[in-house]
Amino acid sequence: MDPTILPAACSTIAVLFLTMIVTKIIARKFSFPAPETVSCQPPVASGAFLLGALPTLLTKGLQPILHDLHAELGSVFTISIFSLKKVTFLVGPEVTAHFFQAPHSEICQPDMYKFTVPIFGKGVLLDADFATSTKQIRLARDALKRDELKNHIEPMVREVKDYFAKWGQDGIVDLKNELRQVLMLIAARCLLGKEVREKMFLEVSTLLHDLFENGTHLITLVWPYLPIPAHQRRDEARAKLGKIFHEIVKSRKISGRAEDDVLQKIMDSKCMENGRSMTENEITGILIAMLFAGQHASSSASSWMGACLLSHEQYLVAAIEEQKKLIGLHGEHMDENILMEMVNLQRCIKEAIRMHSPSAMIIRHANKNFTVQTREGCNYEIPKGQTVATSVAVGNRLPHIYKDPHIYDPHRFGPGREEDKVGGKFAYPSFGGGRHACPGGYYAFIQIKVIWSFLLRNFELKMVSPFPQEEFGKFTPGPKGKVMVSYKKRLLLAST
Ligand code: HEM
Repeated sequence: MDPTILPAACSTIAVLFLTMIVTKIIARKFSFPAPETVSCQPPVASGAFLLGALPTLLTKGLQPILHDLHAELGSVFTISIFSLKKVTFLVGPEVTAHFFQAPHSEICQPDMYKFTVPIFGKGVLLDADFATSTKQIRLARDALKRDELKNHIEPMVREVKDYFAKWGQDGIVDLKNELRQVLMLIAARCLLGKEVREKMFLEVSTLLHDLFENGTHLITLVWPYLPIPAHQRRDEARAKLGKIFHEIVKSRKISGRAEDDVLQKIMDSKCMENGRSMTENEITGILIAMLFAGQHASSSASSWMGACLLSHEQYLVAAIEEQKKLIGLHGEHMDENILMEMVNLQRCIKEAIRMHSPSAMIIRHANKNFTVQTREGCNYEIPKGQTVATSVAVGNRLPHIYKDPHIYDPHRFGPGREEDKVGGKFAYPSFGGGRHACPGGYYAFIQIKVIWSFLLRNFELKMVSPFPQEEFGKFTPGPKGKVMVSYKKRLLLAST
């Protein structure tokens, strides 16, 4: 016998054996469906894979892992946490239409959103029956419509001017902190009303802070009623806010005084069952829900917008030129039409929100089986009872929709490209879509434009800290740490 045969045969067997083991590990890590199957279960990333991804999870959060899984497994995949919990991810406009648009009987908000009940209050939104919560949210939608917000621009401008008047000639600030404060003043003026803004701003903002901070701990998501000090502080804050708004509503009703704010619109509407108005408890809950959904998101979006713009000279110069042009046409005056003319600024904000979405993930519960078809033509069956989710962060960076998705390029929304529109109805998921699409998008854009047009017109700004990293592990992520910016007063108005 050829003496080389035995070692050769042995090494062939060893290679075969190793190949089998590796194949098995890979197959266990990612169980791919047979491609020719007509309709099958999505590929699964198992607990073993997640164990391997643990260091990334702990240092960078879930989004990079979802990004890798999407690249590896495609637009539909399931994460199985040691068979204890399964979440199926649907990413991209091709597979999210049903997720966003299906009726409540087929897709609904998951039980884990019930942590909002002690924050919004009993009988509000997720604690109300479906018909009542639909009416409550419709009222919020109506109050935030473009026509309703026209009169809010002037008070927004006033708040912004007053706030930045305290900056003086030059200095260095944490932009994140400054934007958070000015946005809270705007919310107090336009949503909560004159009484809160003028007489109890500090008290109400402290209570809201206590409510949100203590009501969104990780443990709260699982056991929202666990008797811990944080939950006690949350409940006390909610009770005090309830009393404050009860008094404000009572006093407006008794005096017959009507204000031009969202609170008044909600008070006056008689769109609940049998033509009734909302109760004081519902009014408080809806206002809190708007702030809960809107404040952190707007604050994160406007800070990212600052960080992106100040680190991209080309777009900063274009945004300043646009302001100069508008000053040339309209002077210092600001109204809705002028805000609409700020197309450059609008695209810069939209691009910042695409790259750094304040809502990283949207979660739902499947009440019925459904099937999705990927752009490659694979059909996947999602079973009834499954938790389903979409990663907004991954969806916003799909290379078949967004050219060079990791590059800040506001022109992608401009004429001739409009990548989000070309991509299809759910190609820009930052504001959700379908049944629960964000009703505050327009409000968010006008307040961010009012703030940033003012800053560009009145200050020379430079970011003096490194470009921020993404926060992770937060319900509404923003830029991590401080965003330090130096400013020097300038008057664009005088130079035009
Ligand atoms: C840049 C700012 C904002 C972003 C990125 C944003 C994003 C979102 C997203 C993704 C959803 C859908 C959540 C889901 O489907 O589960 C949502 C819902 C909602 N947003 Fe916003 N939002 C912003 C600002 C605002 C503002 C300023 C308000 C109110 C003043 C607001 C009020 C709401 C409400 C009430 C909902 C719930 C709608 C429903 O469940 O039917 N948002 N938002």
